[in-house]
Amino acid sequence: MRTRRIGDVQVGAIGLGGMPMSIEGRPDEQRSIATIHAALDEGVTLIDTADAYHLHADEVGHNEALIARALASYGGDTSDVLVATKGGHLRPGDGSWTLDGSPEHLKEACEESLKRLGVDAIGLYQFHRPDPRVPYGESVGAIRDLLDAGKIRFAGISNANPDQIRQANEILGGRLVSVQNQFSPAFRSSEPELELCAEMDVAFLPWSPLGGISQAGELGSRFAPFAEVARDHGVSPQQVCLAWMLAKAPVVIPIPGSSRPETIRDSVKAVDLELSAEELARLDAA
Ligand SMILES: NC(=O)c1ccc[n+]([C@@H]2O[C@H](COP(=O)([O-])OP(=O)(O)OC[C@H]3O[C@@H](n4cnc5c(N)ncnc54)[C@H](OP(=O)(O)O)[C@@H]3O)[C@@H](O)[C@H]2O)c1
Repeated sequence: MRTRRIGDVQVGAIGLGGMPMSIEGRPDEQRSIATIHAALDEGVTLIDTADAYHLHADEVGHNEALIARALASYGGDTSDVLVATKGGHLRPGDGSWTLDGSPEHLKEACEESLKRLGVDAIGLYQFHRPDPRVPYGESVGAIRDLLDAGKIRFAGISNANPDQIRQANEILGGRLVSVQNQFSPAFRSSEPELELCAEMDVAFLPWSPLGGISQAGELGSRFAPFAEVARDHGVSPQQVCLAWMLAKAPVVIPIPGSSRPETIRDSVKAVDLELSAEELARLDAA
C-alpha cells in the first residue's frame, strides 16, 4: 500500500479503526481477529484504538487487548505496525462516555495500556478529548512527560481546535505528530484543523470518516455525488469518500472502522483510486 508519514515512520495511507470491534454491536472475537488479519494482509500498518473502546465497566481496554492478541497470532511480520491508542475518556458501563484529563489519570491509563499492548513504549499515544475541568496545558503536559520518560514513542491529540493544536505542539516542544478529529461528508467542520495540520506537517487522522458505525453503509444514499462518482469508477461510495479525503492533503490518513474483513479490504483500495479535479470539486460541494 502507498504510505504516508507519522512522526518519522511511514504507515499505510489507510489505517484501521478498532472501535466497532469492541463497543455496542461488536462481533465475536474470531471475526474481529479475521478483520485485523485482513487489514495486515492488505498492508495496513496503522491501527487506531483507545482504552475506552469497551462495553462493560470491567473490561477497560477490550480493544487494545484484542489488537495485541491479533498481532501476536498473525503469521507475518508486524514490527512495522504502529498501534495508536488514547487516554482521557472512560466508559462507566452504562453506555455513556465520561472524561478524565487529569495528569494522574493519563499517566495511570498509559501504564495500563502499556501492559495490555504488551510493549515497552506505546507507538502513538493520543490525548482523547479535552476535559473542561482540567486546563488543557496540564493534560498535554502529562503526555509530554510520558514522551520524555520513553513510555510513548509519539504524541498526538484528538478532538482539538486550532488553538489547542498550536498549544499542544508548543508544550510538546514541537513534537506533536498527529491530530485526530471527526471528519466525513456529514461532518466537515474540521476543515480548519485539517488545513492547519497540512501547514504544520502534522498527520491528520479523520475519525468516523464514513459517517460513523450506524451511518457508514448509507453514505452513497445520503450523499448522491459520492454514489455517482463510485458508479463511474465501479467502486464503493466508501472508497470514493476515503480517496476524496486522501486528496485533501498529504498529511491525511483516514482510519475507517471495520468489523468485517470485507469492509477493510474494500477501504484500502481507496489509496489507488485517482479522482479528477472535477470529481473532487463535485464531492466538496456534495
Ligand atoms: N478520537 C475520537 O474521539 C474518535 C471517535 C470515534 C471514532 N474514533 C476512531 O475512528 C475510527 C473510525 O470511526 P468509526 O468506526 O466510528 O466510523 P466509520 O469509520 O465512519 O464507520 C465504521 C463502519 O464503516 C463500515 N465500513 C468500513 N469500511 C467500509 C466500506 N469500504 N464499505 C462499507 N462499509 C464500510 C464498517 O462496517 P462493518 O462494521 O460492517 O465492517 C464500520 O462499522 C474508530 O473505529 C475509532 O478508531 C475516534
